Amino acid sequence: MEQTTHTQQLINTAKAMVRDFKGLVAIDESVATLNKRFEKAGIPQTEEYRRAYREVLTTTPGIGDEINGAILFDETVHQQTADGIPFLEVLNKAGIIPGIKLDEGTEDLAGFPGEKVTRGLDDLADRLKGYADLGLKFAKWRAVILIDGALPTTACIVSNTHALARYAAACQRAGIVPIVEPEVIMDGNHTIERCAEVTESVLRSLFEQLYLLKVELGGLILKPNMILPGAAHAQKSDPETVAKFTVSCLRNAVPATVAGIAFLSGGQDAVTASKNLNAINLNYKTELPWPVTFSFSRALHQPALEIWKGKAENVKAAQDSFLQLAKANTAARRGEFKI
Ligand code: 13P
Repeated sequence: MEQTTHTQQLINTAKAMVRDFKGLVAIDESVATLNKRFEKAGIPQTEEYRRAYREVLTTTPGIGDEINGAILFDETVHQQTADGIPFLEVLNKAGIIPGIKLDEGTEDLAGFPGEKVTRGLDDLADRLKGYADLGLKFAKWRAVILIDGALPTTACIVSNTHALARYAAACQRAGIVPIVEPEVIMDGNHTIERCAEVTESVLRSLFEQLYLLKVELGGLILKPNMILPGAAHAQKSDPETVAKFTVSCLRNAVPATVAGIAFLSGGQDAVTASKNLNAINLNYKTELPWPVTFSFSRALHQPALEIWKGKAENVKAAQDSFLQLAKANTAARRGEFKI
């Protein structure tokens, strides 16, 4: 069947986000989240320092050779480098597609203690139009699913996957490719098997909702968690085990027509995240129907933040760190990562 121009444009953008063995970078931390990371690193928590940090990352020489797209926070979209060049222009010049975080964080899910639902649907169509007019090509929405005893409830899973699907449909209507991010978070002492079970049911629910709302899967990127034991679980899993569980879960629940899979790092340290991504791509090369890449925040640039410390004399070293981790992950995407 011939695709309409609108649909074909979405498909083209989604393909461009995962092409050439490159990945995505999330630099879309909210003011509160970035301020928290700044506080830990001894960096002043001001708009100017947040702007300066985004300048360190987006002006890293050579970063466009490793990264196809950058997810931005609203504040950054309207800011410029110290030399007065808008960040959107910096990214476009580097060949990096700019995207925008559209969710507005989480709130308690009424009636379900300990569970969250993501906010931001109310004025979504207006916000999408504004960002599309500014030239943003894709968006991100994060849902948070916690594993704790009997949690998550079906109510929590369906509330969040339904919101993700409504967001995705609204994005596509506005000509913007949705990244859908249902994050089963690593906190807790659950086993890797429990993470696999919960993630698979979340993904099955997600694709049911996406189907219901007529979302075009070829114009969508899935941003899932890897399948890991809880951070407090006594037993750690090696990359081969993580890859086995992760690939099995994704193959069971994610249609082959999805344009690409770009993992979040979820609190794994940089080397572990790269090793796991590498094992997935190396061990299952012939079994993955989608490009499988990265869309990390912390595992790509938390070390850069700690090196930078808000000081001009550290910019070069911070950029070197960011570039090195980006290269490590493009290597992992090829199954060629070595430490
Ligand atoms: P992490 O890679 O630090 O988990 O962040 C990814 C992200 O975009 C969270 O929404």
